[in-house]
Amino acid sequence: MILQVQNLHKEYFIKRFLRKPLRLKAINDLSFSVEKGKTLGVVGESGCGKSTLAKIIMQIERPTQGHILFEDRHINSYTKKVYPEKVQMIFQDPYSSLNPRKKIWKIIAEPLFIRRTHKKKECFEKALTMMEKVGLRSDYAHRYPHMFSGGQRQRIAIARALTLHPEFLILDEPVSALDVSVQAQVLNLLIELQNRFNLSYLFISHDLSVVKHIADMVLVMYLGEIMEYGPREEIFLNPKHPYTKALLASILSIKTKDIEIPIKGELPSAFNPPSGCVYRTRCPFAEERCQKEKPIKRIVENREVSCHFA
Ligand SMILES: Nc1ncnc2c1ncn2[C@@H]1O[C@H](COP(=O)(O)OP(=O)(O)OP(=O)(O)O)[C@@H](O)[C@H]1O
Ligand code: SF4
Ligand SMILES: [Mg+2]
Repeated sequence: MILQVQNLHKEYFIKRFLRKPLRLKAINDLSFSVEKGKTLGVVGESGCGKSTLAKIIMQIERPTQGHILFEDRHINSYTKKVYPEKVQMIFQDPYSSLNPRKKIWKIIAEPLFIRRTHKKKECFEKALTMMEKVGLRSDYAHRYPHMFSGGQRQRIAIARALTLHPEFLILDEPVSALDVSVQAQVLNLLIELQNRFNLSYLFISHDLSVVKHIADMVLVMYLGEIMEYGPREEIFLNPKHPYTKALLASILSIKTKDIEIPIKGELPSAFNPPSGCVYRTRCPFAEERCQKEKPIKRIVENREVSCHFA
């Protein structure tokens, strides 16, 4: 396993005037791993903790509890210089993540400039090589980000992320801001790069249909907790958790009827999650036990599932 996340917790404390701070559990006891050269898709609705997870693995945020191992070593045992050579991240919004005042070759070579390991000419040549790898024409090198479409900007971001030859990419909603036709091109590029360089991905999306194309393993999150986690085929063809089933039903309805069936009811506040099973306020199968008792993670037909009745 290239990445192992063990019993990860993250709490935020929101300060309030003259009152006790509010506690928010963004991540509650997350454990999973990513195999070398494979993709783990992390899916869930807005606010379920996906970006928090990404930031913790990137070491932008610190966990409240738990361990993260990269190649069997604690991530915080890597130096600030070495970790970016291992793990890089791509963000959702290709419009705000690129410096508008810089030519794209400088954006792509930026990680090298920061380290001062290469001469300017070498940086330029490296940028050209990276551009070729992500399918950008080298004569665009002197252009600025605003001259590119969303899909091309995401290619620029991917090129920059790969400049230091990392082994692992965290992709936080990398195609969500793009048109559907362009989404497929960027996904195909990511798959091609993965095969070519044996990259491992943590691919975050609120959309199961996007994950279906790229993930080997799928982890379904709800209010900071794992609902179901297993191989793609099991999750898509034979889901066991009511939440996974509801997510799948909503993507199928988009395909067939062109409308989206939202999951029943409102997403509960993360400040005040339901007792017992966190999904119970929206679950059509909820019973008394679900309110009283938190389901224990169990292995059912080759996947992990947190439901009393799965
Ligand atoms: N710095 C912070 N301080 C306080 N609360 C935070 C902070 N960052 C995130 N949260 C809260 O943690 C929870 C998880 O947020 P997170 O951004 O990880 O969700 P997400 O799954 O990425 O959502 P989205 O799909 O909208 O990007 C949310 O309730 C959010 O409000
Ligand atoms: S434990 Fe109960 S509420 Fe939770 S998903 Fe299963 S049936 Fe639904
Ligand atoms: Mg997010």
